Amino acid sequence: MSEERGERRGPGRVREVTSLANPLIKDIRALAMKKYRDQTRSFIAEGLKLVVDALDAGWTIRTLVFAKSALGNVAVERAAARTVAAGGTVLEVNEKILAAITRRDNPQMVVGVFEQRFRQLADVRPSAGEVWVALDRVRDPGNLGTIMRTVDAVGASGVMLVGDCTDPFSMETVRATMGSVFSVPLARCDAEAFTRWRAKLDARLVGTHLKGSVDYRTVDYAKGPVILLMGNEQQGLPEPLARACDTLVRIPQAGRADSLNLAVATGVMLYEIRRHALPLDGRGEA
Ligand SMILES: C[S@@+](CC[C@H](N)C(=O)[O-])C[C@H]1O[C@@H](n2cnc3c(N)ncnc32)[C@H](O)[C@@H]1O
Repeated sequence: MSEERGERRGPGRVREVTSLANPLIKDIRALAMKKYRDQTRSFIAEGLKLVVDALDAGWTIRTLVFAKSALGNVAVERAAARTVAAGGTVLEVNEKILAAITRRDNPQMVVGVFEQRFRQLADVRPSAGEVWVALDRVRDPGNLGTIMRTVDAVGASGVMLVGDCTDPFSMETVRATMGSVFSVPLARCDAEAFTRWRAKLDARLVGTHLKGSVDYRTVDYAKGPVILLMGNEQQGLPEPLARACDTLVRIPQAGRADSLNLAVATGVMLYEIRRHALPLDGRGEA
């Protein structure tokens, strides 16, 4: 079949692409770079389950790419039909193209290009019982993805990216979220805007700090909404942000490690803050 010949396959119109030089493929591959993700406000998610979950959650899909070998797979064809119905493009490609898009030797058979989503800061108004995690200049995509996954797991409300943070929509971060990128609201702002936003809220700002004077287990987190503020991996919280906190807590440590990994510290905090909201018998509504 010649490159880019449109034809009917399954439920929707599918375009077959066989060359890495195809402009549509070049555009998708460019999404590995932040500059192009920012310009197009889109990002890549890998895997059929993720793509279907994202569609179910109402995310806007721009392109669905699937492996030729997935032809006839009912779930893939359904996802393709939903993409076409939503006005998106569907591309049938070979494994070499999928490997180039995902930069993996064993790529998933489905990849989706979705529109990015950020909440406006002014629209984030946590109410009683809610927890938002604010991350000061988080740099590591694995940490950010793991934190988003944990926020999702504990039923916290969202993540606020403060200052110059790693991109939540990079392929590495999205992979680390294991799908939670589609269920955890994100907002972003600089440190000054964060402080102004927080000043207008009736919420408790709990910062974590190696020099915190309060043991994190002694705080009553049940009073009103909580904003949990975590410091940068290398430098911790800067003075102005530390000063803006209502409470600075410390997670006690034995042994010689000077600190916990950021994502681990966030997980420890979130499970303590959400302790009473999480059911004792495993999964369920908090
Ligand atoms: C890797 S640590 C930063 C270490 C950094 N060298 C410092 O001096 O703060 C990253 C963030 O995780 C949190 N954290 C890690 N260990 C902690 C602990 N034992 N108590 C409180 N917060 C901790 C803090 O928010 C910290 O800013």
